[in-house]
Amino acid sequence: MSNENAVSQTDVIVVTVPFAALIDTLRTVKPKFRPGQVLVNVSVPLETAISGRATRTVGVWAGSAAELAASVVPNTVSVVTAFNNVSAELLKNPSKTVDCDVLVCSDDENAKKIVLDLVKGIAGAHGFDAGPLENSRTIEQITALLVSLNIRYKVKSAGLRITGISPVS
Ligand SMILES: NC(=O)c1ccc[n+]([C@@H]2O[C@H](COP(=O)([O-])OP(=O)(O)OC[C@H]3O[C@@H](n4cnc5c(N)ncnc54)[C@H](OP(=O)(O)O)[C@@H]3O)[C@@H](O)[C@H]2O)c1
Repeated sequence: MSNENAVSQTDVIVVTVPFAALIDTLRTVKPKFRPGQVLVNVSVPLETAISGRATRTVGVWAGSAAELAASVVPNTVSVVTAFNNVSAELLKNPSKTVDCDVLVCSDDENAKKIVLDLVKGIAGAHGFDAGPLENSRTIEQITALLVSLNIRYKVKSAGLRITGISPVS
């Protein structure tokens, strides 16, 4: 379906476009948002947005791609950061176990819980409450490091495991 229809028909919207297309994509669907919806931002401000490297990020005035997304959509929509550090290679085959943790942050505790519950549906993945949306500034930087590890180790699915604390149950 079209992006507009997807936004008008779902409660949780996941935006996974390249950073260069993030603002335009959200502006296009903005009239379709309804109060109470959850927007999960996966986009990361990689330098590829300006023809640079995927191992680097660009500065975002809002602080992070998620905070930028929050500034574009209606303020009745709750923005959540999640899955930014999970390789698409791992997610594209639902029958496979995802050996990776998912850092979830938002200023809306209920929206964060909704997304943490979604993470529970992914075999092998563990969700962690990573605090307020501003922590997306750190989470998004980790993606560039993971891309660098992928290149160095010639793999496609480097990821994170958090130790010392239990995942959200
Ligand atoms: N790939 C990963 O492992 C991974 C991991 C963590 C975070 N991320 C982040 O997730 C985002 C998407 O990554 P990706 O690897 O999935 O990128 P991608 O394959 O290049 O793009 C994903 C989709 O975005 C749409 N798109 C691409 N260019 C667009 C444009 N100019 N305008 C509107 N829509 C456009 C396309 O959808 P249609 O085909 O439907 O047109 C495309 O299939 C990036 O910000 C990336 O940093 C990626």
